[in-house]
Amino acid sequence: MVTTSEPISVSVASFEDYSSIESAWWRLLADQQSLDFRGSTDELGSHVNTERVRRFIESRIRQGRMLVAKEQEELVGICTFSPDGFILDATVQVWEIADVWVEPHARRRGVATALVRQSEHECKMRGAAEVRLTVYAMNKEALGLYQSLGYDVSSYTLSRNLNP
Ligand SMILES: CC(C)(COP(=O)(O)OP(=O)(O)OC[C@H]1O[C@@H](n2cnc3c(N)ncnc32)[C@H](O)[C@@H]1OP(=O)(O)O)[C@@H](O)C(=O)NCCC(=O)NCCS
Repeated sequence: MVTTSEPISVSVASFEDYSSIESAWWRLLADQQSLDFRGSTDELGSHVNTERVRRFIESRIRQGRMLVAKEQEELVGICTFSPDGFILDATVQVWEIADVWVEPHARRRGVATALVRQSEHECKMRGAAEVRLTVYAMNKEALGLYQSLGYDVSSYTLSRNLNP
């Protein structure tokens, strides 16, 4: 467990955290909607399948690959980590950190820093030699975060709209 200078703790999520994680997850999707057109937050919407989201969150909790940040028992942030797709082919393991979300009222107090640092530790404990993550190019806040944590650009993802 990592403790920040504020009374905030970061730990591996349990199923007791499920409902607050799911609420945070929908806020994360709503927030990222302006950055990725696939992230509809309408539970009846055509882009996001609510049941798949729930199964995903459940699987991450079951695998011990979801972290929660709490302040006095209130959930203020989440993130996930998982092995990348090359794990079956390579002897060197690379894991991915994703879904970093901090509630707006808890930002700029080191919560994401604590979540990412704890994720790095959890990945290393599971055999990772390196961690990677993806940031939307327009996400200045997240770019600022990862630069502050020493992350370097290692690849570019290019996209082209096929339905202009
Ligand atoms: C990006 C995000 C996770 C940062 O969370 P946070 O808890 O506020 O981050 P921290 O307090 O640990 O910030 C650490 C450093 O990151 C940088 N940073 C964080 N927010 C920033 C911002 N809005 N603008 C510029 N730099 C920022 C700063 O260098 C900061 O250090 P400082 O506060 O001493 O200047 C949060 O804004 C968020 O949840 N955004 C919406 C979801 C999202 O974009 N997630 C990332 C997906 S890849």
